[in-house]
Amino acid sequence: MKIAIINGPNLNLLGTRETDIYGNISFEMFLDQLTGKYPSVDFSYYQSNIEGEIISALQRVGFEYDGIVLNPAGYTHTSVAIGDAIAAIKTPVIEVHISNVHAREDFRKFSHVSGKSVGSIFGLGLRGYELAVEWFLSR
Ligand code: DQA
Repeated sequence: MKIAIINGPNLNLLGTRETDIYGNISFEMFLDQLTGKYPSVDFSYYQSNIEGEIISALQRVGFEYDGIVLNPAGYTHTSVAIGDAIAAIKTPVIEVHISNVHAREDFRKFSHVSGKSVGSIFGLGLRGYELAVEWFLSR
């Protein structure tokens, strides 16, 4: 089972960024725990602050991997092109948000990604990534 995790802008700052919302642990630390918990899964991880690079990453893994866990961060609410990329690839995508985007500013309530994804998880912290992996494993 090959699962790609793709994170969007500012998620490289997890652990120091707005810790009241996003928590104190860096994504690298979390990824170590996650990959340790699922030794049978072949994980790849990619983070970019650049919209086009996220699209290229989706296209790279999107015809080969079994699942993609995607947190497009701020681009969720603005990027028609990331939504189009999800529609264009074959691999199913689960959208994950660490925070509860529906309990925050109104502009975070809209997603270009939800309608193109098999499902969305938000508000469950980093645990959301793990739940997405569990879903792919249970298919
Ligand atoms: C986020 C929510 C987005 O609204 C925000 O722009 C982010 C992170 C989340 O994981 O909660 O950068 O995707």
